[in-house]
Amino acid sequence: MKQTNSKINIQEKLETYLSEFEIQYTETIKNSNNIKKLELLIEDYSAFILNQQYQLAYLVWPDIQKKDMLTQKLANISAKCVKQMEMIRAQRLLEGRASSSNYFENIEHCINEEFGQFKVTAKDKLLLIGSGAYPMTLIQFAKSTGAEVIGIDIDEAAVNLGKRVARTLAPEAKIHITNQKVEQLADLHTVTHIIFSSTVPIKYDILDQLYELTNDRVVISMRYGNHFKALFNYPTKPTDAQKWTCLNEQIRDNQIFDIAIYQKALVEVGVGDV
Ligand SMILES: C[S@@+](CC[C@H](N)C(=O)[O-])C[C@H]1O[C@@H](n2cnc3c(N)ncnc32)[C@H](O)[C@@H]1O
Repeated sequence: MKQTNSKINIQEKLETYLSEFEIQYTETIKNSNNIKKLELLIEDYSAFILNQQYQLAYLVWPDIQKKDMLTQKLANISAKCVKQMEMIRAQRLLEGRASSSNYFENIEHCINEEFGQFKVTAKDKLLLIGSGAYPMTLIQFAKSTGAEVIGIDIDEAAVNLGKRVARTLAPEAKIHITNQKVEQLADLHTVTHIIFSSTVPIKYDILDQLYELTNDRVVISMRYGNHFKALFNYPTKPTDAQKWTCLNEQIRDNQIFDIAIYQKALVEVGVGDV
């Protein structure tokens, strides 16, 4: 039987998720064989994020202070858990023990719609910021478009695993993964498309920095989650209107993150593409 909003205790639900994530994260760090429970928890949490009854209960929950505090804590711990899950998934693949989970299927399904009208072609070059240990986005873009793709990640272990996973799953594709920062990338001005992983905490600081470093036609896909989805993603922030214009926001009811497309301010959309 469905619970009505008045019967849902959203605070209790969020506090339970928080303590479950903390327990399962610690258990998985202690021993990677404990990953199954964490995977199930992430799958359950993904379904929770897409549940409209809970979305509504969260929306009308009046205790803003508690809501903000729990939202931030859950966004942080769930990002750490997804990263951990990617690491173990990568290690399993490299040991010949492939595994799957609905979380990844959800992410992997979204990939081809990402840029809307600004489709990636074989002539383009794509950069993913926060490529992770299991760089599915890069692999799918490289394989389906033939484009050259670059992934950057601040975590050395994620970079090493990401390189090996890419070599295993897409040996022919043009995939380059590095732990360089955007300002260290020699060919950044030739990049045509950039994706920000949703769980990069400083993604809007990097976007601001990219204005000076990129060419004028570059298209940015910012993955994010606002309101209820901010429990599993970092939200949007206002940008400097002199620098970046948000052209389009794709709010996706059945996906755990949404997408905002940015281009440089003053670039005339669809005119004189270079
Ligand atoms: C969990 S992964 C998600 C990527 C996912 N596999 C995809 O294809 O969309 C997010 C990654 O972002 C990385 N990250 C966090 N902050 C970052 C930053 N400032 N610069 C680069 N990578 C960052 C983390 O180390 C983590 O590996």
